[in-house]
Amino acid sequence: MITGKTNVFGIIGDPVEHSLSPGMHNAAFKELGMDNIYVPFQVKAEHLEDAILGAQSLGVKGFNVTIPHKTEVINYLDYLDIAAGLIGAVNTIEFGKNGAVGHNTDGIGAVMAIEEVTPVKNKKVVILGAGGASRAIAFQLLLSGVDNLVIANRTVEKAGELKTDLVEKLDHEVRVSGLDENLTQELSDTAILINTTPVGMYPNVDEKPVVTAEMMHPDMVVNDIVYNPLKTGLLNEADKAGAKSISGIKMLMYQGVEAFKIWTGIEPPVEIFQRALMNELDLDEI
Ligand SMILES: NC(=O)c1ccc[n+]([C@@H]2O[C@H](COP(=O)([O-])OP(=O)(O)OC[C@H]3O[C@@H](n4cnc5c(N)ncnc54)[C@H](OP(=O)(O)O)[C@@H]3O)[C@@H](O)[C@H]2O)c1
Repeated sequence: MITGKTNVFGIIGDPVEHSLSPGMHNAAFKELGMDNIYVPFQVKAEHLEDAILGAQSLGVKGFNVTIPHKTEVINYLDYLDIAAGLIGAVNTIEFGKNGAVGHNTDGIGAVMAIEEVTPVKNKKVVILGAGGASRAIAFQLLLSGVDNLVIANRTVEKAGELKTDLVEKLDHEVRVSGLDENLTQELSDTAILINTTPVGMYPNVDEKPVVTAEMMHPDMVVNDIVYNPLKTGLLNEADKAGAKSISGIKMLMYQGVEAFKIWTGIEPPVEIFQRALMNELDLDEI
């Protein structure tokens, strides 16, 4: 029951009606007996500042932030944590005594998903794509001890811009590649491949994956951050190659788990988030 003591959390974005986050967080609040509620708020770009100031006036405790506000919202926050400052994007806000603090749990969410299967420290990783998700994951991979990082992108200059930023901020070598023979060469000794391009995302589920089975090997771990469908064309190619595959739904789950920890200080059982996603997506397992 909602009372005068109930703490309000939410997600701001445009659109937000298909977000899976309310289901995850409300399930966790309920199962852990917490007097909290999580609400989706559709916020137009021109109302973003009002939304942040208004949330603080209303005593909202925390927000997730999704497209298109992850970068712009920084202008209205008081502090950023290390990851959010490096990445230059925020997906979680904590409203408290010290003002509005921005965090980024996307990168750590992806790393936690991969680490269900294999540690990332000292590994060689290839990321396909150089957009917002690639940026969050690339910074976190280097913070988590990845040794050898390659950013492969259709537009090589964009991969070069991300590389420059990574090298300047973290002083770690990074290589770039096009989606060409050089990528095939790089993949031959790659431990972890992460797709951050939208290739294969619904409704374009039959689009040819950027990397096919002949370019993979059985010791490779393949993570597609696209989660609609759960089994993308790239993950089918990973099966053909005998490689291990990780669905993008795990990144979504763990970014939520990390946001929950930031807001409540409680490490929630991952199974609660997993079950909530399975219920929402009507699946027997994820
Ligand atoms: N699982 C999760 O929790 C999670 C979280 C965030 C995002 N995502 C998913 O990740 C995907 C990317 O999101 P984003 O925000 O990073 O997007 P973004 O900033 O638009 O970046 C997209 C990247 O994909 C590349 N790309 C686009 N179409 C391509 C194609 N047909 N062939 C090859 N490369 C192509 C782009 O290359 P160019 O530079 O050449 O244009 C760019 O590097 C989306 O599908 C999103 O749903 C999942």
